[in-house]
Amino acid sequence: MSWPKMIRGVLEKWGVYRVEGVFDEVVVVGMGGSGIVGDYLQVLAAERGPLPVYVVKSYILPRFVDEDSLVLLISYSGNTLETLLAFKSALLSKLRVVVVSSGGVLKEEAWRRGVLYIEVPGGIVPRASLPSMLYSILGLLDTSGYSVITLREAEESVVFLEDVKSSILGSSSKLAKWLYSECVIPGRLVIIATHTPMGVLALRFKNEFNENSKLHVKVDVAPEWMHNDIVGYEAPLRRDYCVLEIIDPDNAVGCKLVEFMRDIYSEVTKSFYRVELRGENTLEKLLYGSLVGGLTSIFLAELRGVDPLITKTIELYKLKTKEIFKE
Ligand code: PA5
Repeated sequence: MSWPKMIRGVLEKWGVYRVEGVFDEVVVVGMGGSGIVGDYLQVLAAERGPLPVYVVKSYILPRFVDEDSLVLLISYSGNTLETLLAFKSALLSKLRVVVVSSGGVLKEEAWRRGVLYIEVPGGIVPRASLPSMLYSILGLLDTSGYSVITLREAEESVVFLEDVKSSILGSSSKLAKWLYSECVIPGRLVIIATHTPMGVLALRFKNEFNENSKLHVKVDVAPEWMHNDIVGYEAPLRRDYCVLEIIDPDNAVGCKLVEFMRDIYSEVTKSFYRVELRGENTLEKLLYGSLVGGLTSIFLAELRGVDPLITKTIELYKLKTKEIFKE
């Protein structure tokens, strides 16, 4: 609920961070709640940005990343090994790099190597810091002459979020109750069905349900879903699904695609819920959906009696990474 305040904090520093030079593409490197910032940027940039955006959720940088690339390394903690390894290889290849974190090894290394470093406020879980990380990058690009979102649009989006915040609280609580009774109690698999370019939001919902509510979720995105996944419904092995549809009401084709998906799912389930995105533009719709997904996942965690802040298995994995990635 403090996202508007969080964004205002970033807006105060809009114009402070700048990269000089000419770039052919932006490459965003990060994992989980940090890496998804790259997915959001990719959607926004595809609509109107001047550069293509590639997202790397790995410790290996693709071969095409070179001196013409702007590499943005994001790790909220600053300690995620995959991102640290990518940082190391970016420095070895003398790439142009910017680091975003709330501290950690990445901060120390960025300072030591004279790499442009953007600090976001610490003390919360990475996924809850989505707006700080996203708006920091939007500010950097705008100031550097590669605007995807202008300061004015960023300011308008905060006003929007402030306006809709309390209604989101109510609708998220309602959705969490539906998920609890329709999916959790009967043990049904949650399918999140949407259309492009909102696949990124379905992914965000999935990640929030995974990490905060400790739930498995399947993501279906039209129209690609119609070219493979759909065929599984010709001879279904299971019927225990509940479907959460996310639609952008301003996208007529998208809405018709999701309607078609519902016809197919109806063969195996009668359990549907629809979230209609609000907002004047894609940024606002993404913010709206992200807040609904986040709050719903917290309410659902409460209903399930699980702690949304603790992700034991991710910590277990992180402890193992040093061993796994040892050459
Ligand atoms: O949201 C989370 O807690 C995770 O998805 C983390 O973002 C992920 O484990 C990567 O960590 P970090 O964001 O600190 O690099």
